[in-house]
Amino acid sequence: MYSQGLIGTNTETEESEEFLAAFQARIDREEKIEANDPMPEAYRKTLIRQIGQHAHSEIVGMLPEGNWITRAPTLRRKLALLAKVQDEGGHGLYLYSAAETLGISREQMTEELLTGKAKYSSIFNYPTPSWADMGAIGWLVDGAAIMNQVPLCRCSFGPYARAMVRICKEESFHQRQGYELMSVLAKGAPEQKQMAQDALNRWWWPSLMMFGPYDSDSSHSDQNMEWKIKRFSNDELRQKFVDATVPQAELIGLTMPDPDLKWNPDRNKGQGGYDIGEIDWSEFWRVVKGGGPMNRDRIAARTKAWEDGAWVREAALAHADKRRARRAAAQEAAE
Ligand code: 3HC
Repeated sequence: MYSQGLIGTNTETEESEEFLAAFQARIDREEKIEANDPMPEAYRKTLIRQIGQHAHSEIVGMLPEGNWITRAPTLRRKLALLAKVQDEGGHGLYLYSAAETLGISREQMTEELLTGKAKYSSIFNYPTPSWADMGAIGWLVDGAAIMNQVPLCRCSFGPYARAMVRICKEESFHQRQGYELMSVLAKGAPEQKQMAQDALNRWWWPSLMMFGPYDSDSSHSDQNMEWKIKRFSNDELRQKFVDATVPQAELIGLTMPDPDLKWNPDRNKGQGGYDIGEIDWSEFWRVVKGGGPMNRDRIAARTKAWEDGAWVREAALAHADKRRARRAAAQEAAE
């Protein structure tokens, strides 16, 4: 299924109990697994799945905000948004490169994205009708991304963990600039405050879905936590995000769009935390399966970008082939 990578692709039947036990012992000793290390095929496959989908989310995630770069209200806002969108492209690059070390090619991952075989975060399938959406995305989407991605800096797979260190630093800027944008609107004219509230209403529930299904419905969590790819469960990270974000909304005078939101003093071992209402997983799976308002536009935009970039890839590869041929000829002449 995957092109020959840097490591041999052992079939799962060749994996003896001793091999699997020795691998798990390395994980338990908190050793980093590198691309050339022997690893269970299932470990490799789940990493290709998660890192590939993470990379897809980054580059599809550029589109909702790219939509506002030419319409930012001030030069300062335009600069911040430009920097953020550019960062997301870079995150995609680091992550595709980390996935490639596992033996899948960029072309294959792109083909899986464009044909719908691979997922990307469902949140990017919603429209951005107002400038306040730029604030809500930075504050909530990147805020959720940080909560979910800081633990990935300690992921057992070395290339992924190292890619995440820089990504998380940049996500922190993304979250701050988004929250600052929302706080300025919330303190502005009534129309501006309403625009911020409308954006919060649109983005709050899809942001909670970014952490994945409830733990009881998560198909990968148990195994991925044993392999220390995941350090916390979906529900644990979602709860941390809710507990951190509700006070931020209150501070700028916005109301969470959840009538069931209430402080529960027993949560978090008596530290307290917020109970939230039921998440609408039918909405989540409808969007994941292509029924979101912007799914078609997002894939069309990524398909056009891939096709428009074909000549650049061909030129770069032709140049690399020529250089290789020149080096080989020079080597032959020298022998
Ligand atoms: N959108 C789309 N699909 C999702 C999803 C979401 N928000 N959450 C879960 N899923 C999918 C999973 O991919 C899996 O499907 P698959 O088997 O076909 O891959 C299925 O739902 C079951 O979910 P699990 O909880 O069992 O899957 P995971 O253990 O992989 O957990 C995850 C899901 C928490 C998203 C995990 O994959 C993860 O931490 N990924 C890395 C972070 C990431 O990809 N974040 C996406 C946003 S990136 C971003 O926001 C960029 C920022 O700069 C804006």
